[in-house]
Amino acid sequence: MAHESSRRTFLSVVAAGSAVTCLGGLSGCAAAGPTGQIAAGNISAIAEGESVAIAGQMVALFRDANGLWAVTTICTHLQCDMQEQGTVSPSELSCDCHASTFTPDGDRVSGPANRALDNFEVLIDEATGDITIDADVVVDAATRTAAPAIT
Ligand code: FES
Repeated sequence: MAHESSRRTFLSVVAAGSAVTCLGGLSGCAAAGPTGQIAAGNISAIAEGESVAIAGQMVALFRDANGLWAVTTICTHLQCDMQEQGTVSPSELSCDCHASTFTPDGDRVSGPANRALDNFEVLIDEATGDITIDADVVVDAATRTAAPAIT
């Protein structure tokens, strides 16, 4: 009898471990979101209507007619990094872990995620066009940083 109970416990543990979860510690999962100042390339590398996922930094940059903005790529459901387990495009962020989707501004569209993605402050050096994302400063989703006229 004790043997059956141990077998059942073992099978329960195996079943729980095989579910698609992502709470950090696994490949493609983030223990925490982005932090600090993140170098995000140059304004010349992102045209209006484009997005750029900043590799290894858990954040993506977007540009429209009003300027640039940055959004975390860490899903608000169970923290899968959508750069590794999903898609980041100019029109949508989608999470392959459990099918949550978000607008480029980070608003939740569908799936089990129950809140929007954080937007971060974007700083642009007016002389060089170099972009820095300050992941310690969360801003409103409508915030845009105007692209400077670089001569
Ligand atoms: S981690 Fe579950 S939907 Fe993204």
